[in-house]
Order: sequence, then C-alpha cells, then structure tokens
Amino acid sequence: MVSLVVNGKTRKVDAAPDTPLLWVLRDSLHLTGTKFGCGIALCGACTVHLDGQPVRSCSTPVSAAAGKKVTTVEAIGATPAGKAVQAAWIRHDVPQCGYCQSGQIMSASALLARNRAPTDADIDEAMSGNVCRCGTYNQIRAAIKDAAANAKRA
Ligand code: FES
Ligand code: FES
Repeated sequence: MVSLVVNGKTRKVDAAPDTPLLWVLRDSLHLTGTKFGCGIALCGACTVHLDGQPVRSCSTPVSAAAGKKVTTVEAIGATPAGKAVQAAWIRHDVPQCGYCQSGQIMSASALLARNRAPTDADIDEAMSGNVCRCGTYNQIRAAIKDAAANAKRA
C-alpha cells in the first residue's frame, strides 16, 4: 500500500513502489485528465505537480510521491495561478485537439505560481518540455501573458 495526498485528499493505493504515478492516477484513482503521451518524459502530456513543482508522472515512481502533495489538472483551478491560467486558456481558445493541454496548463500554472511576470524567455524555458502536435504555442504564450496580467490585477 502507498499513501498519497492527491488534490487534498489522502488516498491509499495498492501499487508496487515502482509503478508510474501516471498509472496510479489514471487507473487506480480514475483521474483521467492527466494524459499518457510518450511514457519517457519527453512530451509533457502527463505533467502533474508534486508539492507545487511540475513533474512527469509517467516517469515518477509512485513511491516518490508518498508524503508529498500531488495536484492534477482536476484540481488546479482551485489555486490562484491555475484559475488564472484556465480562464486565459478559454479567452484565447488555446486547445485544438486538446490532448496535450492538461500538461500545458499544469506547467503554465507552476510557472505563474512562482513568477508573476514571466518574460518570453521564462515562458520558453518553463514550457519547453511540453510538446503540442497541433502547434498551439503562440496561443499558449499569449494566454500565459494574459493570465499573468490578470493575476497581477487580482
Ligand atoms: S507521457 Fe510523460 S512526458 Fe510524455
Ligand atoms: S492541442 Fe493537440 S496536441 Fe496540443
């Protein structure tokens, strides 16, 4: 048994310690907003937060999440940064197919939580591990800047 705190709730799961966190979230806890893309930490579709830091859940053993706070896209809207990012995503109509977008939102929310006024370089660095086959990069950048501007006004 592994005990996790996921989206504010303590959850106990029957999983081997080396099971990827992504499988535990999707298959055991039915939190399917987090997506499987590459499985080898290259695409960012599986991004979640561990104690507020973005991590690739496909390559994070569940044992590494024990005792830490796991936040998924299902709950990121309850944080100030996540709320601002999701509202900006809607305003800018960011998603195309949508597959990469929960990972994009998790990386963008982590950036905004630690940097209220990200530059283009900050955005590029924070988002470089999140791939979008549909090429929504320009909308993502605009939405992050919009979210930052709105968060500053709030
Ligand atoms: S599925 Fe985890 S980085 Fe691609
Ligand atoms: S919106 Fe389709 S992969 Fe990003």
